[in-house]
Amino acid sequence: MTQLVQETTVGDRDRPLLHIHPRSGWLNDPNGLCRIDGTYHVFFQHNPAAPVHDDIHWGHVSSADLLHWTPEPIALVPQPDGADRGGCWSGCVVDDGGVPTAVYTAIRADVHDAGVNLSRSDRTLRRWTPDRAWRIAAPADPGISHVRDPFVFHHDGRRYAVQGAGKTGGRPQVLLYQCDDLRDWSYLGPLLTDDDPVAGAVAQATVWECPNLFRLDGRWVLLISLWRDDVLSGVRYLLGDLVRRDLGWRFVAESGGKLDAGPAFYAPQVLVEPDRVLLWGWAWEGSERTPAEIDAAGWNGTLTSPREVVLRGDAVVLEPAAELSGLRRETWSLAADGSLDVPAFEVLAPTGLRLRLADPRSGEIRTVVEADTAARLIVDGSLVELFAAGPSITTRAYPGEHRRWLVDAPGGEVWRLGLPD
Ligand code: FRU
Repeated sequence: MTQLVQETTVGDRDRPLLHIHPRSGWLNDPNGLCRIDGTYHVFFQHNPAAPVHDDIHWGHVSSADLLHWTPEPIALVPQPDGADRGGCWSGCVVDDGGVPTAVYTAIRADVHDAGVNLSRSDRTLRRWTPDRAWRIAAPADPGISHVRDPFVFHHDGRRYAVQGAGKTGGRPQVLLYQCDDLRDWSYLGPLLTDDDPVAGAVAQATVWECPNLFRLDGRWVLLISLWRDDVLSGVRYLLGDLVRRDLGWRFVAESGGKLDAGPAFYAPQVLVEPDRVLLWGWAWEGSERTPAEIDAAGWNGTLTSPREVVLRGDAVVLEPAAELSGLRRETWSLAADGSLDVPAFEVLAPTGLRLRLADPRSGEIRTVVEADTAARLIVDGSLVELFAAGPSITTRAYPGEHRRWLVDAPGGEVWRLGLPD
């Protein structure tokens, strides 16, 4: 029988049971999200050798139903004498005339020496053949110090890509390219800079990483991850319009805000389907998990649940993908003190909830998340995702060997989560 990502959890109560994460090694951004011939593919930034960010490959898992995830062979590997020898950083997968093609950041020497590479596969997405040289280098402008994270989209019958960027001296940008032929890119100038008053106010950063540009209910949405001098500072959405400018387009932001208000959410990527937009983010480890604990466990980083991107009035919000209700196994009764001992659970609360973590050894009890409106909470190992009135909240809290979850959810329903047969 095919082994699943979910069959690797024994003995480590911090390890998610149902979410995509590496058996061993490091994970950061989701990459290359696509659905090809009916199968969902999720790639991710991955160091298979150690639970630290180094020598980045693309890990790969696939699924027919967004619930059961099958590990796949590593897709992209830095080529020792290739243009990606410093790492295969983030990017997307395009179905290019029937040929699945990874369009990714190829780091040559270091972060300032990055171009876009292509790697092509057959339709199993298991056999990849990378280019040896960049398709496009950073723009000739010496003022641009960082460029990465190509994301391809279509508009007005043409194919374009955006990349995240930063200027020397610390000003962020999103750059626009035309790439009808993926082998032949032309740079069209910035799509957005922080001179835009809305973007300048809500998305301060030195580099905008991982741009995603897509249409939602007839409006344009741009997602950007905020890199502030090495500090990952959350993710913002901008709602606006594309306006013609010279050869290309400019994004004019009308409003914006936090895409997720938790401390552990970064570098999401969307998968645009005909009838919905799905999204996964990276949930990094919190500071309570020490480097020694990470070394001992051997893994670092998990992806969030698949979420649906929706417009609520003028706000872009994330909701659990509809398929996730398929993880509900049976309703669960809380003990008299509100505790429960299951590795993964969901709480549906009509009027609000509070999740706490109690340590019986010290007597310490701390609040992990709370909501005072109707809310849905998904807890899996150490990954905590809350969906309530405002933006979603993604955070990490570690049960370890001894701690116990405590749930207060008046009138609520608790489900044990697990895989359907
Ligand atoms: C975002 C990011 C991307 C980059 C990748 C490297 O977390 O910094 O900008 O391509 O991670 O792993």
